[in-house]
Amino acid sequence: MTGPNNLHTLLSFLLAILHYAWPVLGGTNRTIDDQWGDSVTGILPTYLPANDTWQQGANCSSCYSRPNASLAYDGSWHDVSYIPGGPAPMVARFTFDGTAIYVYCILDNHSNYTTLTNLTFRLDNETVGSYVHTPNALSPVFQYGVPVYSNTSIPNGAHTFELETDASDNGSVILFDYLQYT
Ligand SMILES: *[C@@H]1O[C@H](CO)[C@@H](O)[C@H](O)[C@H]1NC(C)=O
Ligand SMILES: *[C@@H]1O[C@H](CO)[C@@H](O)[C@H](O)[C@H]1NC(C)=O
Ligand SMILES: *[C@@H]1O[C@H](CO)[C@@H](O)[C@H](O)[C@H]1NC(C)=O
Ligand SMILES: *[C@@H]1O[C@H](CO)[C@@H](O)[C@H](O)[C@H]1NC(C)=O
Ligand SMILES: *[C@@H]1O[C@H](CO)[C@@H](O)[C@H](O)[C@H]1NC(C)=O
Ligand SMILES: *[C@@H]1O[C@H](CO)[C@@H](O)[C@H](O)[C@H]1NC(C)=O
Ligand SMILES: *[C@@H]1O[C@H](CO)[C@@H](O)[C@H](O)[C@H]1NC(C)=O
Ligand SMILES: *[C@@H]1O[C@H](CO)[C@@H](O)[C@H](O)[C@H]1NC(C)=O
Ligand SMILES: *[C@@H]1O[C@H](CO)[C@@H](O)[C@H](O)[C@H]1NC(C)=O
Ligand SMILES: *[C@@H]1O[C@H](CO)[C@@H](O)[C@H](O)[C@H]1NC(C)=O
Repeated sequence: MTGPNNLHTLLSFLLAILHYAWPVLGGTNRTIDDQWGDSVTGILPTYLPANDTWQQGANCSSCYSRPNASLAYDGSWHDVSYIPGGPAPMVARFTFDGTAIYVYCILDNHSNYTTLTNLTFRLDNETVGSYVHTPNALSPVFQYGVPVYSNTSIPNGAHTFELETDASDNGSVILFDYLQYT
């Protein structure tokens, strides 16, 4: 016979399974915005080699790239270019606790300044990927929310993620919009 006590035990057991299985089943996504930081912890990205080599693109009158701010996530993005011979690499560094990451940039296709986007990704100090967008006849002038890197097989725990410009002779721009982690 199943009495109320047994039912209670069964429910507690099922809830416990759900509690521990939740992260394995996928957990929830959080966002780190380029400007406003982590949606839960508020931790901001670190921009190197110095914070002021990067610009907040939305309100930057000296930046060549002028995307439409209302199409960027939270109306903001960070803009930096590696100019051959200049300081390198340009790095945006993030800390997060999770098992998956999805990184989004804006791409620019103008031909009258550096719009090559040539990125390297590092997770916990290990190179895990790269991304190249070359201006081309098929690309729109600007593309928003372009996924440049994702990884859904990261061991659960605290991690450091770095997005950096290539430092070869063609230069590179980064228009970093936001990332999500699970
Ligand atoms: C998190 O976001 C990514 C990319 O948008 C999506 O593929 C994934 O299913 C989301 N995960 C969860 C748990 O919502
Ligand atoms: C970068 O510098 C600006 C202007 O000095 C400041 O408002 C912002 O909080 C700084 N960001 C970080 C992540 O240190
Ligand atoms: C690049 O060309 C666009 C028009 O195609 C113009 O609006 C913009 O001012 C130019 N930018 C630079 C840095 O020359
Ligand atoms: C920016 O995008 C918004 C939303 O799509 C649009 O209403 C607006 O006209 C655009 N602005 C420019 C300057 O293109
Ligand atoms: C840009 O400036 C406008 C007007 O001052 C402000 O409302 C907005 O928050 C600024 N955006 C960023 C990303 O700083
Ligand atoms: C990352 O790697 C570089 C070069 O191999 C090394 O100098 C640096 O100390 C490492 N940083 C961490 C946090 O492990
Ligand atoms: C994802 O991260 C793990 C752990 O750092 C790494 O071994 C793997 O190569 C990465 N996968 C991708 C697609 O970047
Ligand atoms: C994108 O850039 C390429 C090369 O700079 C140019 O040929 C093409 O017309 C551009 N596309 C648009 C939609 O402007
Ligand atoms: C992108 O950067 C890599 C690494 O430095 C380099 O080998 C490659 O030629 C670059 N791609 C372009 C199109 O410049
Ligand atoms: C510059 O770009 C061209 C064509 O996209 C490529 O062939 C070349 O290897 C790149 N140079 C460097 C130094 O990456």
